[in-house]
Amino acid sequence: MSGLITEKKIVLGALVIITFATVALVILPFVQLKKLEAPEGLKPYTDQQALGRKVYIANGCVYCHSQQPRDANLGPDGKRGWGRPSVAADYVYDQVHLLGTMRTGPDLFNIGARQPSADWHLGHLYQPRGYTPGSIMPAFKFLFVERKGKAMPGEVVVNLPPAYAKPGVTIIASQDAVNLVEYLKGMDHTYKIKKTVKESFDKVSLVTEDHTKEAK
Ligand code: HEC
Repeated sequence: MSGLITEKKIVLGALVIITFATVALVILPFVQLKKLEAPEGLKPYTDQQALGRKVYIANGCVYCHSQQPRDANLGPDGKRGWGRPSVAADYVYDQVHLLGTMRTGPDLFNIGARQPSADWHLGHLYQPRGYTPGSIMPAFKFLFVERKGKAMPGEVVVNLPPAYAKPGVTIIASQDAVNLVEYLKGMDHTYKIKKTVKESFDKVSLVTEDHTKEAK
């Protein structure tokens, strides 16, 4: 009779599994990460960047772009110019995080360092093919207003490459587009991670290597 699977055993077994999963996936990571401090070079988002981040989320950029350059052992991200491998502390201001799992397009964790031009970003969002021939990124034209006639004072005009410019039509960036570009330009995690990042884990280290040398 003792080998029989009883209701009591099923409930007990389920409880053991749930407890184990909670400890391994919730409690241990919390203990490891709670003392994490922002690296010196990382600034909190400005209000405008935070608004731009919402536009990034709303338009599903995360479904094609990751924000997590990987270690050299896991892939040639460094050689692709995407920057040093990211560490947990790089994300202290990210609620929710936008790590992403798909890389239909390049990783954007350091796009602000790679491409600091607002003009380029605005034009590329309006018409990716105007900047990267054959690009499969969708054009986000609904973030812009096309107007026959001139822009009004204070409006942000998009200057497209000559082949894509429409004569007599002025392309004006919406506030959402301007905010989004501000967010993209701020994506610069090229600061050095000091050893203190390692120390900030308080002996329970998740960083296995010192990446200080790779950081530029
Ligand atoms: C369907 C997939 C897809 C979506 C959705 C998408 N992109 Fe892209 N993106 C790409 C591809 C592919 C490229 C590479 C070709 C190019 O430069 O246009 C790219 C390139 C870029 C680049 C230039 C990267 C570099 O290293 O030069 C930026 C910036 C960018 N995307 C921002 C965005 C933003 C912001 C959004 C959301 C509004 C977005 N993307 C949505 C596929 C996508």
